Amino acid sequence: MELITAIRGRRTILDFKSEKVNKALLLKLFNNAAYAPNHHMKEPWKIKIYEDDARSVFGEKIVDSYIRLGLLKTSNEEKLMRARQSYDRFFTSIPHHVLFYIDKEDDGGYVDEENFAAVCAFIQNFQLLAWEKGIGTMWTAKKTLLDEVFIRDIGLLPEKHKLIAVVQVGYPNKVPKAKERTPVEGKIDWINTEEIR
Ligand SMILES: Cc1cc2nc3c(=O)[nH]c(=O)nc-3n(C[C@H](O)[C@H](O)[C@H](O)COP(=O)(O)O)c2cc1C
Repeated sequence: MELITAIRGRRTILDFKSEKVNKALLLKLFNNAAYAPNHHMKEPWKIKIYEDDARSVFGEKIVDSYIRLGLLKTSNEEKLMRARQSYDRFFTSIPHHVLFYIDKEDDGGYVDEENFAAVCAFIQNFQLLAWEKGIGTMWTAKKTLLDEVFIRDIGLLPEKHKLIAVVQVGYPNKVPKAKERTPVEGKIDWINTEEIR
């Protein structure tokens, strides 16, 4: 697949087949994604992959966080139970939930920002490499990633770790239509005179 075809053709997938992606293939994609640029060769990406029975438990912890953060209202027990069931169906319908995080080095300072950026480059490499193999992804990031209780719930430490994204991975059931992009011309200032002084 040509690079431009992968870049323009990749879509965020919301509806996945239940079939798992072969572990060796996933590892190959991650190892190729690791050629992402990263300052001082820190290779800061750390990854947890939730599969099989771990998906429900992971999903529950995310929903607990949504409730804590007020993203999911709790006033009606019956409705809450149905919402939990619906989230559980969502989490168990997707074969792999891939959590990306980094070790904090300067607690939100510039080094952490650099490492965060490198992991984003890794994620996009991974998304494109996956797409080339017919594998879909959904990059998700919500306030939950900052929720200290959630961070502890998944066995990490808020003072030591920064969560970056959860990427859902699997073969697409349905590929959504492309969302067209705005021409970038309007977002560029070409600066090539002494006016910069
Ligand atoms: C940092 C980040 C966070 C995102 N969070 C979500 C999310 O929480 N839920 C979701 O459905 N998509 C999420 N997306 C995917 C975007 O919605 C998607 O890329 C955008 O709508 C464009 O669609 P496309 O990827 O199919 O081109 C996120 C993407 C990025 C880069």
